[in-house]
Amino acid sequence: MNKEPFHEKIEEMSSRVLILDFGSQYTQLIARKIRENKIYCEIYPYKTPLKKIEDFNPGAIILSGGPSSVYDKGAPLVSKEIFDIKVPFLGICYGMQFMAYSLSGRVEPSNNREYGHSELEIIKESRLLKGCGRKSLVWMSHGDTIVNAPQGFVVTGSTSSCAVSAFENPKRMLYGLQFHPEVAHTECGKTILKNFLFEIASLKKKWELKDFAVEKTLEIRGVTHGKKAICALSGGVDSTVAAVIANRAIGPRLKCIFVDNGLLRENEKATVMKFYRENLKLNVRAVNASSIFLKALKGVEDPEKKRKIIGRIFIEVFESEAKKIKDAAFLVQGTLYPDVIESVKVFGSSSVIKSHHNVGGLPKKLGLKLIEPLRELFKDEVRVIGKNLGIPEEIINRQPFPGPGLAIRIIGDIDLKKLNILRKADRVVTSEIKKSGLYNKIWQAFPVLIPVKTVGVMGDKRSYESVIALRAVTSADGMTADFVKLDYDILRIISSRIISEVKGINRVVYDITSKPPSTIEWE
Ligand code: XMP
Repeated sequence: MNKEPFHEKIEEMSSRVLILDFGSQYTQLIARKIRENKIYCEIYPYKTPLKKIEDFNPGAIILSGGPSSVYDKGAPLVSKEIFDIKVPFLGICYGMQFMAYSLSGRVEPSNNREYGHSELEIIKESRLLKGCGRKSLVWMSHGDTIVNAPQGFVVTGSTSSCAVSAFENPKRMLYGLQFHPEVAHTECGKTILKNFLFEIASLKKKWELKDFAVEKTLEIRGVTHGKKAICALSGGVDSTVAAVIANRAIGPRLKCIFVDNGLLRENEKATVMKFYRENLKLNVRAVNASSIFLKALKGVEDPEKKRKIIGRIFIEVFESEAKKIKDAAFLVQGTLYPDVIESVKVFGSSSVIKSHHNVGGLPKKLGLKLIEPLRELFKDEVRVIGKNLGIPEEIINRQPFPGPGLAIRIIGDIDLKKLNILRKADRVVTSEIKKSGLYNKIWQAFPVLIPVKTVGVMGDKRSYESVIALRAVTSADGMTADFVKLDYDILRIISSRIISEVKGINRVVYDITSKPPSTIEWE
């Protein structure tokens, strides 16, 4: 077989991928897909100097998509000398347009955005598109289109509305796709990325997700320079994994704080504190602040006000505890990538849906530098890492529990009586969902207390009590969700157990809405 010009060089090259980020909402998804192929990758901003890109010693470079047009004033453009780096390039969406534009192809501005599924037809044999089938569905999200590929390039794929949907110059190892291979909607996306990594760039699978924890451990050790760090533990998988990584890095210099806000589930504090101390050997202090939270929430009905109050008091309590730790310089947080996007969406847009308070707030007030070892990861990746770190399954596979806790699962104002009713109902729901084998298969299952009274009949007597709504959803990341089609028998058992075990409830209903249009939590 004839070797293409750069192959000899590639054989000595590293197996690292550099993703140059032009601002796409999918950039982290590209990174995730590369990691799934056991290849190490890093994301650099498009403004990175060429020297730094070369110093990274990439085995391949991916140019991400982005919201701009190459013709926009201040569009993210990189010197075309980047293409002198002798490694394979894959330009995706804007990345492909930038490639075409830099190498004297023709990109045409357009006011019409093509968004959604399109049918790609392979019109010329291509190593990148090998194994895709002549026609397949791809996911498009672009405004401008390429009308002429640069000289030396061949067009390999088209759709009905985008003639240049895939092009390549195999001699120079330059490849471009107008669609997004990294999103699940592109049928042969995984095949294409594999072709690029292994067939074209000849990378070797040398990296595993578990290496991530080792890299972060060394990084944290390096940046903290002998100083102390604080970590707020919530009992959830994200903060726990972040704390365990930090604990490996700096041991006794890590001080953890667990705030009991009085809005937790039954026995939650005792259970997680035991785990933290006995299984994970974390240095953790529990602060009982329930009365402060409940006092501040008294009579408050509005969900956003509840969230704001809980967020504010959490900061106050945490701040006063943190001040007791002398010379702390860092704050470790278990922020995940979807939290970053949600927060940007939530805080940055004019339409506030829910002000999740987990990200931001704390470090500025405390004057601590932020360490977020999981910031690039998705929840299922964090679970794999946690498992490798020896964190017990009970913590790793816990369903998400919101920061404001049970306060946003009681409609309207809250008090101790309502909290206790909800805790008992939650115990029933969780134990039945675990018994059914569904707990680890679904995103969340929980009860919501609706303090509206309805009439019932129990033991020949009229009852007039509140309603529990049961919510169970599947979801990949909490951003969209479907209600679970729970078996009638499970529903029946949950319903009858709640009615007989939870005083104050005489009716159970099941929530059959998805997100959107509803949200997962009721408040
Ligand atoms: P929604 O209700 O927004 O929930 O569809 C999406 C996911 O986020 C969780 N959630 C929160 N988590 N603080 C949190 O830490 C909050 O204020 C909050 N509100 C919702 C929810 O449990 C679901 O997993």
